[in-house]
Amino acid sequence: MAPKKTKIIAGNWKMNPVSVAEAKEIFLGVKKIARNLKNVKTIIFPPFVYIELLNRLSSLGEIKLGAQDVFEASVASGSYTGEICGQMIKSVGANHVIIGHSERRASGETDAVVNQKILSALRSGLNVVLCIGEKDRDKEGHYFHFLKEQIRHSLVDVQKKYFGNIIIAYEPIWAIGKSDREAMNPRDLHEMYIFIKKNLIDHFKTQDASKVPILYGGSSSSLIAKDLLSEGGVDGLLVGRQSLDVVNFGNILKIANDLV
Ligand code: PGA
Repeated sequence: MAPKKTKIIAGNWKMNPVSVAEAKEIFLGVKKIARNLKNVKTIIFPPFVYIELLNRLSSLGEIKLGAQDVFEASVASGSYTGEICGQMIKSVGANHVIIGHSERRASGETDAVVNQKILSALRSGLNVVLCIGEKDRDKEGHYFHFLKEQIRHSLVDVQKKYFGNIIIAYEPIWAIGKSDREAMNPRDLHEMYIFIKKNLIDHFKTQDASKVPILYGGSSSSLIAKDLLSEGGVDGLLVGRQSLDVVNFGNILKIANDLV
């Protein structure tokens, strides 16, 4: 039998929870489940302020940690009030960063800024989760062109040697923050999965780019996780609200772990 391919289940906590005590409780609950699962890689993206503590709670590395954003300039320090650079993120124990989430793009982040952030994060030794996704799905299929351009502009000057450090999160904006009945259907998702892979191969001009994992995000839950992963064929999920619920997130982890 072919070996199982490890799925990636990532939790994007966004600006939640409101206290360090709650962050600790959720994290320890997830850790209890994650530590027994061998076929799933769990990554939690908490707000910056909780990363160091949560890293200490994951002493055996059962859960990987990531930040939700990074400063765009490739500098290690300086007069940039409010900014946090890649080296700082690494120094508190996180090794991933989400870049280009639609909620940040909504406040003005362009593909050019996303590109700068990706270059800066990769140079700092972080793994990047690049979020892409169309706002609407029009009948004419313009969203294909939109995604192609988003991939192209975001990855300008990213060298081939960084393949292993990039994950794509396909998060159609129309599917984020809804009920799981409104998530993307698995058949459409599979089509997008193939489309994104093809564009990565074209962009980097090598078949190796097909190794870049592609996650789906947008109202995923334990009820639809199996279909998204098996029929949709994606390499994992980026889970928003449900990642704050230990039981539901734990069930998603178990489903991903048990898939053949
Ligand atoms: P959601 O969020 O699962 O709550 O829809 C996903 C995301 O925005 O990453």
